[in-house]
Amino acid sequence: MTKKVCKAVFPAAGLGTRFLPATKASPKEMLPIVDKPMIQYAVEEAEACGIKEFIVITGKSKRAIEDHFDYAHELEDNLKSKGKNAQLKEIQELTRAQFAYIRQGVALGLGHAIHCAKPFVKDEPFAVILSDDIIDPDDKLLREMMKIYNKHKGTVLALQQVPKTEIDRYGVIAGKEISKGVFKISDMVEKPKAEDAPSDMAIIGRYILTPDIFNILEKTPPGKGGEIQLTDALKILLKRKPVYGYLFKGRRYDGGDKGGYLKATVELALKNPSVKDYFKEYLLEKVASISEKEK
Ligand code: UTP
Repeated sequence: MTKKVCKAVFPAAGLGTRFLPATKASPKEMLPIVDKPMIQYAVEEAEACGIKEFIVITGKSKRAIEDHFDYAHELEDNLKSKGKNAQLKEIQELTRAQFAYIRQGVALGLGHAIHCAKPFVKDEPFAVILSDDIIDPDDKLLREMMKIYNKHKGTVLALQQVPKTEIDRYGVIAGKEISKGVFKISDMVEKPKAEDAPSDMAIIGRYILTPDIFNILEKTPPGKGGEIQLTDALKILLKRKPVYGYLFKGRRYDGGDKGGYLKATVELALKNPSVKDYFKEYLLEKVASISEKEK
């Protein structure tokens, strides 16, 4: 019988160079979008799909991630004594899940980070979530991917159409649509030039992988940028087993990039009950004053 996806891996050991100096001593994954760090959105997304075990790949300067999902006795006592029960509940809920942390000593690439999870994942299928790829919580990407995994019992990658000008930042696939939005992938290229890209469908930060990937990653040499690339390993897997893609049509923001981070902040602030009314009013005023100045 095929095993269910019960574990999620969160690679969070990257250096976050696009966000320096903010990420010099603090993890990129802890940058807040309104009032929650990016990694909390990612964990909640996995929890909403029934995932029970969380494996975070960390590195130097990433301790704050562990602290965020751990007990904070002094803070809890303080909130309790002041009767701040809503905040207390929110803080305590962060500790409900089961977390394991693995250090990736040197940031050798996403493929290497995922390989570090092998001792915890063992022989089960697992989700990989890049927490700086922010998916709108109302769009159920991972849930759809799990359905495809359960049907086809193979690796599933999240795909999104991206403009030509951005294609060289992604792994890009070639494939055939086998059912609405589901592709059987025939090839993939890491960060191609626009003219060499096999399609406009880029791999984004959600994956359902099977343990087959570990043996391949073990032997994958450094690729583009001198890093051990997951795309290179998936390309080898493709020759042995079917790999599927799900074309996501929802809202995604690249939180590892300053522009994408700001967009995510605006979009999620406009949905957040604690600030949305005030913030919408502010935005409308701001836009009106910008338009006035530009006349
Ligand atoms: P990115 O490509 O966003 O790299 O990694 P980065 O280092 O985080 O950021 P920039 O590009 O320098 O600004 C995608 C995901 O893979 C993780 C990152 O933490 C991020 O979640 N990653 C990357 C690792 O865990 N280890 C690595 O060696 C590389």
